[in-house]
Order: sequence, then structure tokens, then C-alpha cells
Amino acid sequence: MNATSASPANALAPRLVWDLPQRLVHWLMVLSFAGAYLTAESETWRLVHVSLGYTFGGLLVFRLLWGLIGSRYARFANFVKGPQAVLRYLRSLLSGSPEHHVGHNPAGALAIVAMLGLGLGLVLSGWANYNELGGDWLEEAHELLASGLIAVIAVHVLGVIVSSRLHRENLPKSMLTGRKNAAPEQGIRSAWASVAALILVAVLGFWSWQWTQAGSLLPTASQTQSHDDDD
Ligand code: HEM
Ligand code: HEM
Repeated sequence: MNATSASPANALAPRLVWDLPQRLVHWLMVLSFAGAYLTAESETWRLVHVSLGYTFGGLLVFRLLWGLIGSRYARFANFVKGPQAVLRYLRSLLSGSPEHHVGHNPAGALAIVAMLGLGLGLVLSGWANYNELGGDWLEEAHELLASGLIAVIAVHVLGVIVSSRLHRENLPKSMLTGRKNAAPEQGIRSAWASVAALILVAVLGFWSWQWTQAGSLLPTASQTQSHDDDD
């Protein structure tokens, strides 16, 4: 059961619903996407752009996997619903008594699926561009996917603000603490901290490896000197 509206009010209390990998991956996605977007236009920042883009891609792949084997509210089976459930939820918003969901609501879930799908296309097209596998159309497609994702992110953030107000609960805060108002049987038992620690080590390891790679791609002082001598 996802909705809490039938639960007795006195049983509701802040309980763990988002596991730690979900929260860590979410905020690392926000950081890596923002960083990749801000460094997209400049050749000088290309390696940072590519590194943050791949980071975003790795996090996406993990989130897809976690949607199959993760904790209760992380699983796609828990929150991806058909069009009828989405319409019923949207109608309930207009009726003044909005359906409450401990996990993602059906409309929010739609945005989540769109973000994961567009994100995957964005990373794949970026990879193909970087390896010169396509022409101008692929550059256009990469840019278009980035703009499409920005648009869905805007809807996502707007949805989070509207839901927070309607349900009088701070959803961004719950994405940090992992806790939402729920009945005892609705909370999850484990935060999966060890999986989150592995993700952090993998991301930091990847960044430091990219850093050393970037150093070896830059011209050394002697190369610069001999180039100057040639001129
Ligand atoms: C690059 C930008 C963003 C991306 C790609 C993104 C993506 C996602 C994804 C994939 C989820 C599902 C999380 C999961 O189930 O593991 C999610 C949920 C969530 N995001 Fe974001 N997000 C972005 C920006 C933001 C921002 C800026 C905020 C803060 C206002 C935010 C707040 C939330 C909240 C509160 C949830 C849980 C929603 C719920 O209660 O159902 N997101 N986001
Ligand atoms: C979060 C993920 C990403 C975002 C938001 C993003 C966004 C963008 C945007 C908006 C541009 C167009 C810049 C312009 O106006 O010229 C761009 C260009 C580019 N991106 Fe990405 N990108 C991402 C991931 C990647 C990845 C993973 C790679 C490669 C592995 C990549 C490689 C490139 C390259 C090579 C260009 C230049 C294409 C050209 O010459 O126009 N990007 N990216």
C-alpha cells in the first residue's frame, strides 16, 4: 500500500523511506548535471564537462539498477504507474483532497522516468560526439537532449514545490534526511549505508583518475618551451 490517507493520524511519524544510495545519487546527479551544463560551451573546460557527464551517466546506470533491486520505495515497481493512476492523482489535486503517497506520487514518477530516459540519451550522444562518431546532427541532438532535460527538471522542481505545499511536508528536506511522515509498517528497515559508501568511493576515485589523466594530456613546460623555440 502506497497511500497513507487511510492510516490513523496518531500512527504517523517521521520514518525512513528513502535509502542512503537514493539520496546520495540524487544530490550527486544534481551536482554533476549542473557542473556539466555550466562547462558545456567552453573548449577549455571540455575535460571537466566530459568527466561530470560520465559521472552523471554512471549515477544514472546505478539508479536504473537500484530501481530493480533497491529498497521498497526505490523500486520502479513501487512507483511507476499507468496513465489512469496519473490522471486520478492529478484529479485529486484539483479536488482539494490530494492523494498522499509515502513513495513517489504517480505524476512525479512520470517526470523521474523522463529524466532517466533523457539523461541516458544525453550521455550516449555526448559520448558519441566526443568520439567523433557522428556529424553536426549528433551535436544538435546532444544539445536538444540537454535542453529537453532542463525543461523536465524545471517541471520536476515545480512539482516538488507544489507537492510540498499541498501536503505541508518539506520534500527537499526529506530527500536529505530520508524521512517522511509514515505509519510504522511503511518505513524501510535499512538505509543501505555500505552501498552509499561504495558509490562515494567510486565517484571520488573516478574524479581523481580523470584529474591525473587531464594532467598527462596538458603540454609539459619543456614541450611548451620547444614549441616556442620553433616559432
Ligand atoms: C539535475 C537536476 C535534478 C535531477 C536530474 C533530479 C532527478 C531526480 C530523480 C531521478 C528522482 C528520483 C529519486 C529516487 O527515487 O531515487 C528525484 C526525486 C526528487 N527530487 Fe530531484 N532532480 C533534480 C533536481 C532537484 C532539485 C533542485 C530538487 C530540490 C528542490 C529536487 C528534489 C527532489 C525531491 C524532493 C525528490 C523526491 C520526490 C518525491 O518526494 O516523490 N530535485 N529527482
Ligand atoms: C549531464 C550531462 C551532460 C550535459 C548537461 C551536457 C550538455 C551539453 C551542452 C548543452 C552542449 C552544447 C554546448 C554548446 O552550446 O556548444 C554540450 C556539448 C558537448 N558535450 Fe555534453 N553534456 C553532457 C554530457 C556529455 C558527455 C558524457 C560527453 C562525452 C563523453 C559530452 C561531450 C560533449 C561534447 C564533445 C560537446 C561539444 C559538441 C560540439 O562540438 O558542439 N557531454 N554538452
